Amino acid sequence: MLLSSIRTNSLGLGLFAILTAAAIALTQVWTAPRIEANRTAAATRALDEIIPPSAHDEPFFAHPLPIAAGSLGYEQETTAYQARLQGKVEAVILPVSAPDGYSGAIELVVGIWADGRLAGVRVLQHKETPGLGDKIETRKSDWIHSFAGLSLTAVPEQAWAVKKDGGQFDQFTGATITPRAIVHAVERALQYFNHQRAKLLSAEASKDG
Ligand SMILES: Cc1cc2nc3c(=O)[nH]c(=O)nc-3n(C[C@H](O)[C@H](O)[C@H](O)COP(=O)(O)O)c2cc1C
Repeated sequence: MLLSSIRTNSLGLGLFAILTAAAIALTQVWTAPRIEANRTAAATRALDEIIPPSAHDEPFFAHPLPIAAGSLGYEQETTAYQARLQGKVEAVILPVSAPDGYSGAIELVVGIWADGRLAGVRVLQHKETPGLGDKIETRKSDWIHSFAGLSLTAVPEQAWAVKKDGGQFDQFTGATITPRAIVHAVERALQYFNHQRAKLLSAEASKDG
């Protein structure tokens, strides 16, 4: 009697576990394409803001550039994009991760003109604290706009830091970690651009180029 009751309960529990696992797996399969589509839409909106339509006559996604695993804060291979006008590469858009945010990695896009000036920076995804670290969003504050037009030549190395660390970028009231992570990630993106400039600006480098 006891044995059969244990067997029935175990079977029931086992079945429940299998059904739950299947439901989670199916949800992931169903939502993954939507999450990807949302990310692409967010990236497109951000790119349209930092690289004006007058600066390119082809869609950004027409000219992808593979970025090697281990670059720009990502462990896996990622993709950059070229903005082209009449066949000439006017700017590149780099995917950048700032791994040292307050609540984990902050995902950014960094647009850089061919001459090495920043076209702009936008946050695509973050888990920073509302009211403290989220002033990196354009709808919360203008802070992220402060990067546009800057370059490694215009800003000396020691100034690529928040003011609290002796640099030129504002931190937020009660929140230094988030802006510090972004300032350093943007500087690293500019250094990467400098090292990889020839490849990033080559019209042949892009798969479809
Ligand atoms: C609940 C909680 C959430 C916080 N969220 C953030 C955040 O999102 N970004 C941030 O920079 N600091 C955040 N802080 C504050 C940091 O712990 C830290 O005090 C602040 O960034 C100043 O850093 P500093 O000591 O390096 O100057 C948070 C603190 C608490 C208690």
